[in-house]
Amino acid sequence: MPATPLTAVERAPGATGRARASVVLSTGVCLPEAVISNADLERVVRTSDAWILERTGIRERRRSGAGVTTSMLAAAAGKTALDHAGLESVDAIIVATSSPDTFIPPVACLVQRRLEMASVPAFDVNAACSGFVDGLIVADGLIRAGTASTVLLIGAEALTKLVDYTDRSTCVLFGDGAGAMVLGAGDAGGILASRWGSDGSHADLIYYGPSEEYPDTGDGLRLAGKGTFRMAVEQMTELCAELCEAAGWTMDDIDVVIPHQANQRIIEAVAKRGGLSLDRFVINVDRLGNTGAASVPLAFAEAEATGRLHPGSRVLSVAFGAGATWGGFAMEWTSSPR
Ligand SMILES: CC(C)(COP(=O)(O)OP(=O)(O)OC[C@H]1O[C@@H](n2cnc3c(N)ncnc32)[C@H](O)[C@@H]1OP(=O)(O)O)[C@@H](O)C(=O)NCCC(=O)NCCS
Repeated sequence: MPATPLTAVERAPGATGRARASVVLSTGVCLPEAVISNADLERVVRTSDAWILERTGIRERRRSGAGVTTSMLAAAAGKTALDHAGLESVDAIIVATSSPDTFIPPVACLVQRRLEMASVPAFDVNAACSGFVDGLIVADGLIRAGTASTVLLIGAEALTKLVDYTDRSTCVLFGDGAGAMVLGAGDAGGILASRWGSDGSHADLIYYGPSEEYPDTGDGLRLAGKGTFRMAVEQMTELCAELCEAAGWTMDDIDVVIPHQANQRIIEAVAKRGGLSLDRFVINVDRLGNTGAASVPLAFAEAEATGRLHPGSRVLSVAFGAGATWGGFAMEWTSSPR
């Protein structure tokens, strides 16, 4: 096991121990190999490839098999990100998930054990599909305050284990996977602005049943599709405008938009309403479906791997999820292409 790392304050730059910026040092992903195609779902529920494609843009999604847990996916993505950053350990581990292996212990501690990392703080964030963004805002605060100089942040889900495969309106939407980032202290660029919020009066839009309020709904993710769709478009469009203004950019300055991937039509509506051309959006929902808290880091890793992110690229990332929760950040990318 590696030695206990120096505390962040000891390692943070500057006399006060405060970093000027938090930047992305690396990314990593882990996707289960098994694919569920729309044709596979046609054999399970009364649906069609044409309906799913037209209403959601989804062609296929990944499924973690029996014995594969969220912490396994998370640890694999985290290990890749650590390797890419050339690090063996970090000052804190945060995992964003709504589908933990079990209620207790936190997935982040299982990741810590799998990666044999020293006794650094490790904890989960559950803010559904906005969880990765919320985790990033927490990590940014830790780094700027000098509490940590490196953070491993992972979004990981095994949502197919929560899906009711008799409910055609939800089972076609969700998939599994994990994406990770190592964040560190930098001198410039990185996260320039962030916004987050939630409104519990909309807690019934998406929930896992049965709940105390809905004891008769049976096991499974439940979703008020239209209400969720409307609110996701409104919130993510508003976030784009707010973040752009906070970063001192115009919409034309933005190079890349990395939205939460719930539905191709939601992304198209945000692009149209926000006055942002769709070619600037990174889209993986067609191949991965809605991977919850993993969708944003998976899309970041894909953008990096496909050469869409360069030092100086101006990036907006926005998300919306159950709760209702929402959040986003504006970032100047600093890592060089690998
Ligand atoms: C779920 C969603 C795809 C449904 O699309 P929609 O256009 O709103 O469709 P509706 O719910 O109005 O359903 C229309 C019809 O299709 C049917 N339908 C629902 N799912 C179907 C499926 N998989 N295959 C075929 N028909 C389906 C409905 O039963 C309904 O039939 P009816 O008119 O006879 O009652 C869409 O609302 C959505 O993506 N919402 C956001 C969901 C989301 O991603 N939430 C997470 C955000 S983080």
